[in-house]
Formats: sequence, C-alpha cells, structure tokens
Amino acid sequence: MGSAAATGGATAGPSMLFELKRVRASRGGVEVLHDVSLALPEGATCVAGRSGSGKSTLLRLLNRLAEPDSGRVAYRGRGLDSLDVLALRREVALVPQLPALLPGAVADNVRFGPGLVGRDVDVGALLDLAGLPAAFADRDADRLSTGEQQRVMLARALALEPRVLLLDEPTSALDERTRDHVEETLKELRLRLRLSLVLVTHDFAQAERLAERVVRLEDGRATSPGLDPEPTSASRPSTVR
Ligand SMILES: Nc1ncnc2c1ncn2[C@@H]1O[C@H](COP(=O)(O)OP(=O)(O)OP(=O)(O)O)[C@@H](O)[C@H]1O
Ligand SMILES: [Mg+2]
Repeated sequence: MGSAAATGGATAGPSMLFELKRVRASRGGVEVLHDVSLALPEGATCVAGRSGSGKSTLLRLLNRLAEPDSGRVAYRGRGLDSLDVLALRREVALVPQLPALLPGAVADNVRFGPGLVGRDVDVGALLDLAGLPAAFADRDADRLSTGEQQRVMLARALALEPRVLLLDEPTSALDERTRDHVEETLKELRLRLRLSLVLVTHDFAQAERLAERVVRLEDGRATSPGLDPEPTSASRPSTVR
C-alpha cells in the first residue's frame, strides 16, 4: 500500500482504499454504528440502507469529519489518526448530503480550498463538470436552488483534485438530465484520473450505473457477511484497470 501522498494509484492487486475494523461511532451521544468491519477496494462502492441506518455517519468517518468511538479506520493501509487531517481532506473530499456554501460568490466557494494551498483553478470548467453554466461563477451562493447548491458543492470538491470522492446523495435534488450529466462527469473522472468513489444513494439504478459493489447498512451494522462488500450486477467500467 502506498502512502497517503502516493500518486498514480495501484495498478494491480486489490489495494484497500479504506478499511474499517470493529468501528463504533456515535451521533449526539447515541451509538449509531455498531462494530462495523469493512474493506473497500479502489473503484466505486455504493453505501445503501434505510434512512437513519448510519450511511452519512460512515461516510463522515472516512475523511475525519467524524471520529470513531473505538475501532480503526485506515486509508491505503494507514490509520486515519496518523494522517494530517487537512492533507487527508484534500485527497479524500466529501460532498455532503446538505449543501453548506460560504456566503459570497459561487466562484469564491470553488476557489476556496485550492486557494488555501496557493493554487488557482478554472472555475468555469469546474462548474461545467458539475453541470452548471460558467455564468454561475458570479452568482450569489445564498441565492441558489438546492440542486444548484449541490452542484456547486461538487465543483468545490472537484477543485481539490481529490483521489477519492465521498458523495452523500449527490443527485437527490436534480432532474434526470442534470443527474445524467453529473454521472457522466463522475464516470469520466474515474476513467481519466482513476478517481475512487464512495457513494451514498437511495437510487438503486444509480448504484448500478456507478458502483461495482454495494455495502449495506442496517441499523448501524454492515450486513454483508465477512469483509468483502457484495458486487453489483453492473460490471465495472470497461476501461478502468
Ligand atoms: N447531529 C446528530 N445528532 C444526533 N443524532 C444524529 C445526528 N445526526 C444523525 N443522527 C442520528 O444518527 C443515526 C444515523 O444517522 P445518519 O445521518 O448516519 O443516517 P443516514 O443513513 O445517512 O440517513 P438518511 O438516509 O436519512 O440520510 C440516525 O438515527 C440519526 O437520527
Ligand atoms: Mg444521510
């Protein structure tokens, strides 16, 4: 397994992107993930389960927006607690279920993360990838529809040039055509940049289109037996690996 800063990704073998061992996690003082053990390889994994089953909590553990009460979460073989949290979040970017934009212009939001490390980005191109017209760059972030905000959140995450995207119901507020555009972007990034995805969705057809395997959560427990998530019936995108 390479270090967190390794580039290029593994070319052979099932390099484990994330491993959770006996993870317990709480929200508001109540344990919501109970003894979850999982291994997620590179590629695209869908996390499925009913509302309240702990999907968002699981996703947040993967870039340390939340910490486990006990157990271990590792990224590419290294415990998350041994990694610099900001470096981790640039490499493993989360698009949250509820948009949370900074006040100001859309462009400022997209530039924010890369700006922290002195890098400028092509805001128009990033908005286009996320399915928004470039003219949205000048729009006030406070005055967007939920679906538009979702796409700005995606553009903001893509601006970090992450190696892994954690997507929490990223298209739940989008119409079919816009959703298709976002899905095409995700597939394209997987092919071009070998981006890995961990995707929470209630849309089983979307899981089939985008993911190679599904992890099921039921009342805070991973129901797939053993460590291997079950494969989806969809084959992996043909030119990846
Ligand atoms: N901030 C919070 N404070 C207290 N409890 C919370 C908080 N956030 C979530 N929970 C509880 O933790 C459990 C898991 O929540 P989580 O958001 O991970 O579920 P989910 O599977 O993502 O649900 P959904 O599909 O509705 O988004 C739920 O029972 C929820 O009520
Ligand atoms: Mg959720």
